[in-house]
Amino acid sequence: MQIHTTIAGLRDTLAGSSSTVLVPTMGNLHEGHLALMRQARQYGGPVVATIFVNRLQFRPGEDFERYPRTLEADCGHLRAAGVDHLFAPDEGQMYPRPQTFHIDPPTDQAGILDGAARPGHFRGMATVVMKLFQIVRPHTALFGKKDYQQLMIIRNMVQDFNLPIRIVGGETVRAADGLALSSRNGYLDANQRKEAPRLFEALTKVVAEIRRGNHDFPLLERVCGDELASNGWKVDYIAVRNKIDLQLPPAVHESGLVVLAAARLGSTRLIDNLEV
Ligand code: PAF
Repeated sequence: MQIHTTIAGLRDTLAGSSSTVLVPTMGNLHEGHLALMRQARQYGGPVVATIFVNRLQFRPGEDFERYPRTLEADCGHLRAAGVDHLFAPDEGQMYPRPQTFHIDPPTDQAGILDGAARPGHFRGMATVVMKLFQIVRPHTALFGKKDYQQLMIIRNMVQDFNLPIRIVGGETVRAADGLALSSRNGYLDANQRKEAPRLFEALTKVVAEIRRGNHDFPLLERVCGDELASNGWKVDYIAVRNKIDLQLPPAVHESGLVVLAAARLGSTRLIDNLEV
């Protein structure tokens, strides 16, 4: 695996490749990321992983400073997963001057759910993803479905800007007890880690109810939220939405629903979702 820290070096190496496959990450790689890397190899072109903790998508007071940076271990994992190139720029490379232009996703996509809880997050995310697309010029890019809203926004951005990039969503990878893998799971203490799978269990119950024909979504969301709250969680949202645009489903819906949740255990904010 070649490691690149400059845009010029990466571009020189990739010049002429029309089949580059990109997997952007913020590092501290776990099995969820590595499954995406292995999936990326199926598309045939050189696989480029990126590791960059993007300050723009963190709000003041969030975990930008303490976000785990584990480059050496990450390199070992990427090599084992068969990744061809790692692009690991520093901030000076990505933002040699303060970013003046931004990608501002519309409020109905970025002001709801996670965007309501973290204003500006998706603007920072979309801006760096657009920069990575311009730097790497991939044919295909992969993103995990665990960040469901992020994936939807990226798909819409690619469509609206006519970017010739195929966007692929990778399935969420879970621990044996159901907890969705996330770099932020490392913040949990032993008791919180034991409690954490309840988020997945709660979503599983909502999905089972919907499949049984219970379509009183506000009630299902409330019951699920109450159960989490009574076990010490601080719930940001539990939401049954249309998969395609994450808007409220019509009263009579056909199919294509997803249940999304964000909730805190102590100071750690976990997100998860399940398609119905
Ligand atoms: O999902 C992430 O890790 C980040 O939001 C991304 C897509 C790498 C942009 O910084």
